[in-house]
Amino acid sequence: MPRAVLASLVAVPVAVLAVAGWAWRASEAHLTGFAAPPPFAAVVAGDGATVAKGQHLAITRGCIGCHGERLQGEVFEDDPLRGRFVAANLAKLARQQSPAVFERALRHGIGQDGRALYAMPSYNFVHLRDADVAALYAYARSLPVAETPLPAPRVGPVIRWAIARGQDGAVPAFVPKVPALRWQAHADPAVRRGEYLAMTSCNECHGFALRGDDPFAPPGSPPPVGGPPDLAIVAGYGRDAFVRLMRTGKPPGDRDLGLMTRVARGRFAHWTDAELEDLYAFLVAMGAQARGQG
Ligand code: HEC
Ligand code: HEC
Repeated sequence: MPRAVLASLVAVPVAVLAVAGWAWRASEAHLTGFAAPPPFAAVVAGDGATVAKGQHLAITRGCIGCHGERLQGEVFEDDPLRGRFVAANLAKLARQQSPAVFERALRHGIGQDGRALYAMPSYNFVHLRDADVAALYAYARSLPVAETPLPAPRVGPVIRWAIARGQDGAVPAFVPKVPALRWQAHADPAVRRGEYLAMTSCNECHGFALRGDDPFAPPGSPPPVGGPPDLAIVAGYGRDAFVRLMRTGKPPGDRDLGLMTRVARGRFAHWTDAELEDLYAFLVAMGAQARGQG
């Protein structure tokens, strides 16, 4: 065998291994490199009213949709290249871990082992108030612990490669990009309450400011086409059409909205009438302001 061929037979695998090793180390540094927030210190009551409030939050905010009906944990995604993401058994976690560990994952995206989470939408929960975080913890703790066997999570090579090159990031990299609430000084309390509901429910998919932006796209990307729209469009909905969309997942004309129809049925059909009024009041106010800005 010519010497050059022999050399390349060795050199190519060595180079591939070196690059893979670099990507693994760089992504690992990212996943373990986020500073812990100041520990959550709110008091958690376990009374029936708090637990009931926690259950309502767990349904309307989608915890149940991803972590399972009894918060017993479920495999969220399992792909050889992207990885395996496992929504934890929260009933068990709340029995074994402090409210501070629960809150750090929920609002900041850092898991119980101190590593950054990748698939948990903490950017949707960063504005949850302390009392609501405490109610969610109390609810998780009130549930019977099912010993569901869950496979170990794993961040796959495609995601590690993107993270290593700075083209993607774990949840704590996105949490600080969620803007502050902007309507909490508004004269109408329904608008204030509605902003809180929307900014802890809809910004999982409709952009961190609810304006249809794609917060995960690399900087400089063109605006997304065909994704979840700018929620300013709700200003053009009648109140009844909006309530119907939330309760049934059906928009005017009964078009199939796919994921939106599923989340409406699973989560938003459970809003109280008062919550729906508040959400509508806020989205109409936001839409009117957006129109005013041209
Ligand atoms: C879109 C699906 C989804 C929703 C909605 C969701 N989670 Fe998660 N959650 C996950 C996944 C997946 C993980 C594991 C993430 C990972 O490894 O990247 C996770 C992780 C967690 C963890 C950390 C577990 C650990 O082992 O450290 C906590 C705590 C948690 N979620 C609480 C909640 C609560 C409370 C809610 C509702 C307010 C909620 N989640 C809503 C998917 C979701
Ligand atoms: C899990 C992701 C997800 C969440 C959470 C979500 N949406 Fe959507 N939504 C979508 C997607 C995707 C579409 C686009 C569907 C399509 O056009 O096929 C959509 C479309 C819509 C539309 C446009 C319907 C139409 O007439 O075309 C409205 C209004 C809407 N969502 C309101 C909301 C509100 C209000 C919330 C929060 C209470 C919310 N969504 C939360 C994914 C989501």
